[in-house]
Amino acid sequence: MQTFVTRDEISLWRKQLAQDHKKLGFVPTMGALHAGHLSLVEKAAQENDIVLVSIFVNPRQFNQQADLQAYPRTLEADIALLNGVSNVVIFAPTEAEMYPQNLPFEPMDLGEIGSILEGEKRPGHFDGVVHVVHHLFALIQPQKAYFGEKDYQQLAIIRQLNAHYQFGIEIIGCPTKRDPDGLAMSSRNLRLSSSERANALSISRAIRFVQENVGLLSINEAKNEAKNIISQAGLKLDYLEIVDPLSLKNLSNWQAQQICCVAAFCGEVRLIDNMLCESVKLT
Ligand code: PAF
Repeated sequence: MQTFVTRDEISLWRKQLAQDHKKLGFVPTMGALHAGHLSLVEKAAQENDIVLVSIFVNPRQFNQQADLQAYPRTLEADIALLNGVSNVVIFAPTEAEMYPQNLPFEPMDLGEIGSILEGEKRPGHFDGVVHVVHHLFALIQPQKAYFGEKDYQQLAIIRQLNAHYQFGIEIIGCPTKRDPDGLAMSSRNLRLSSSERANALSISRAIRFVQENVGLLSINEAKNEAKNIISQAGLKLDYLEIVDPLSLKNLSNWQAQQICCVAAFCGEVRLIDNMLCESVKLT
């Protein structure tokens, strides 16, 4: 599998693609790839002539050093997994390649959406995401870029970034992949012990509880019950909110559609998940 490490290699390769009128799909990742990532890569492969997968654990988006250090790094296994998909190339830069000195970058104001939920709990996280995705988009210039809906707020911010810096890339959100028992796939799941993994199922159970009670309980009652499900399983809840799908602002009354977003610590591992919760239409 073709694996690029430097910006220069990517630029040369990108020029050739443009000359050959090839359509490029881009899947940015931090590695430790799982079936969720693979579904993005497969979708990108269907919709483009060639797919570039970046693998870079971005230090600037970690607000805790210990979390950065513990983040799984499995490059060989990642390459083996991607070998199964045709027309995929990898970009696995070093930090110095990703952030060369003197590379211009004007940070953007993320507005309110950047300061709630993950933005509030992980200060600086989205600034780091915007920084790296800006550099990746500017270098790679794909026609389409693919992001998982598990990072729902990140996806909203990427759409904002794309408009702000006028990249003109088509941003494609892809549904969260789950294990058969409901746990949202995440690279961080690799760090869970088997008992922690069993407890982590309370997150998807709690969100399903909200889904099943839209319009039946008040929003506050649904939130409190859902929070209990998570706490009783021994997790430390960071937040559980029911928010508007576009603004991500907290709701006090049910709408036709809302998103239930959760972050909780399972042992040392911080997990996030979300699901769309819709009002049942009575006919
Ligand atoms: O979602 C991720 O894995 C990361 O936030 C991303 C988009 C690759 C940027 O580092």
